[in-house]
Amino acid sequence: MRTVPARFVRDHTRVQRPSAVPEVRLHVADDVVALWEAMEAEGGAGEAPPFWAAAWPGGQALARHVLDRPATVAGQVVLDLGAGSGLVALAAARAGAARVVASDVDPYSRTAVAVNAGLNGVAGIEVVGDVLGGDPPEVDVVLAGDVCYDREMTERVLPFLDRARARGAEVYVGDPGRPYLPHARLVAVSTLDVPETEGPGVRRTTVWRLP
Ligand SMILES: C[S@@+](CC[C@H](N)C(=O)[O-])C[C@H]1O[C@@H](n2cnc3c(N)ncnc32)[C@H](O)[C@@H]1O
Repeated sequence: MRTVPARFVRDHTRVQRPSAVPEVRLHVADDVVALWEAMEAEGGAGEAPPFWAAAWPGGQALARHVLDRPATVAGQVVLDLGAGSGLVALAAARAGAARVVASDVDPYSRTAVAVNAGLNGVAGIEVVGDVLGGDPPEVDVVLAGDVCYDREMTERVLPFLDRARARGAEVYVGDPGRPYLPHARLVAVSTLDVPETEGPGVRRTTVWRLP
């Protein structure tokens, strides 16, 4: 598995508090295009966009949900699926999860999760790669922030979440109204207007539970 040096994350980002989760600090991109170019210079052409260098609305709503309702994860083993920056994993750890596993296919994300954990003084988050193809890991709670961002990803994620639920895990998805999510078979548990990163607007974002 490829490893990205921590210095890359520190050198090409700035530290910011997500507007809906100000108790967490994250390394985020100032200029996404410049960051993406730096990634390609470091790793070669074909790098995925720097999803890891932003706090996505679904992740912010899910992190807020968990911090405001710590019983959701307290004492539990938690998987942050599609961790990106690790915002949701950090919120779960702060809310008292017994163990937190953060999964992301992107090596930049896996380094960013570790760097952001250090920045927030959070120890012990286990960082893993792609888990979608196999049996879900043995966890009590799956938290998935903004993972249904395109049709292809949604088609991979939903069967995984169903398998995790069938094995007894509680499954929560934070989503800002993307069209791919099968709303009819989900239960809304909280809603949050997440301020847009750029501009004065907000994204109405829902935390859904798989019944
Ligand atoms: C839109 S970002 C959301 C990041 C974070 N959860 C948040 O809300 O800020 C989606 C993340 O899913 C990750 N991802 C894509 N395919 C994946 C897979 N097969 N397994 C785990 N993560 C994956 C991407 O690399 C990206 O970091």
